[in-house]
Amino acid sequence: MSTLSADVVESPAAGLESPCSPALPERLESEPVEQALPDTPPRPAWIEIDLGRLKQNFELINRVKPAGLQILSVVKDEAYGHGALPVARTALACGASFLALSTLEEAVALRDRGVGARLLLLGDREEKELPWCLDYDLTCCVSEPHTVAVLGQLAARAGKRVAVHLKINTGMNRYGVRWNEAASLAALIGSTKSLLLEGMLSHFAQSDEVDKTFALQQLARFEQAKRDIAGLGLAVKVKHLCNSGGFLDLPQAHFDMVRLGILPLGVFPSSVCRRIPGIEPVMTVKARIVAIQDLQPGDTVGYGMRYTASSRRRIAVLGLGYGDGFPRVRNQGCVLVHGQRCPLVGGVAMDAVTVDITGVPAAQLWDEAVVMGRQGEDEISVHEVAKLKNSVSYDVLVSWRARLPKLYVNEAVAR
Ligand SMILES: Cc1ncc(COP(=O)(O)O)c(C=O)c1O
Repeated sequence: MSTLSADVVESPAAGLESPCSPALPERLESEPVEQALPDTPPRPAWIEIDLGRLKQNFELINRVKPAGLQILSVVKDEAYGHGALPVARTALACGASFLALSTLEEAVALRDRGVGARLLLLGDREEKELPWCLDYDLTCCVSEPHTVAVLGQLAARAGKRVAVHLKINTGMNRYGVRWNEAASLAALIGSTKSLLLEGMLSHFAQSDEVDKTFALQQLARFEQAKRDIAGLGLAVKVKHLCNSGGFLDLPQAHFDMVRLGILPLGVFPSSVCRRIPGIEPVMTVKARIVAIQDLQPGDTVGYGMRYTASSRRRIAVLGLGYGDGFPRVRNQGCVLVHGQRCPLVGGVAMDAVTVDITGVPAAQLWDEAVVMGRQGEDEISVHEVAKLKNSVSYDVLVSWRARLPKLYVNEAVAR
């Protein structure tokens, strides 16, 4: 914790009265003011993460899921921008049996911060990453024989039996062994004494749309691989195929575990997938009004003069911009001030967003605006922000930059 002492008004050394300095006020001489500063410098724009809501979302998921279905919490990319550690802790407290990360660094960071839970690394690993996986007790997905051989040798040398999950390509065509070749790789793993074929998985290319034709084809291929592997006499304890969309819409594909990323964060993967009532977004992006300008007709706003006032307008400046991950739009989108929608005017700058608050006469300097999330009765949804970016909710969640401080609320509720 940093402290600010009052050394700027330091009194002269005792007995050495300076002829030039006027006598300092009594209070400052006798009582140096010590002011404690928070750990991070304050900023009038921030991300609020409601851990109470996160817990509630996990509990709602637990309530609707079939008993015995395990949850893997996908906390890659800082749990989609929410902070990997607090989300991981909440997920585990709510009964998640695995966490998944994308990079070795992400997994090592969680281990170094005391997370002892099972960690699954999604994607394939380069050979030089494998000793780290062993050292940090990380579970790898394997897609090809070379990784099986190297990991097997490392595990044997360490005197360990290491669990792996067989990644099966059922149509996504990113990672994995093709479904009709999965059994031979499973046999290789099965014959490697230092490895345990604990899991088999695949990933849906499209699970949250109305048309489930391809998802059902992927499911059929996964089922075939499962039968082929069982035919070898290999028992695979943890079979998993579903992401959030699959969990919601394809109960026949649940198997032993589902991998949930976006749903516990309170965001439905699409506008058409099944809803679980009560699930609410965990992330809210807020910014204060840092300046107000009263415009006359004909006045313009911002770089390139992209907005011209047609009448007298009241314009608020919010202290965040595209440097914080806000989409770089012009005269598009809204924020909430006093629960009312206020349109963006002019272009979004690196550190400033300008909004028309003429319709909110009560709005004042330093009032809180909601850039993404709920305020009063209205909400700027992640999907609405995604439209501004011409992108998807996942991209919006991970795109808020680290320079926006994160404020965790309702932490005690989440424990
Ligand atoms: C392999 C895998 N499984 C599960 C997920 C979680 O997906 P969702 O956030 O839609 O639940 C992801 C996320 O991209 C993934 O890559």
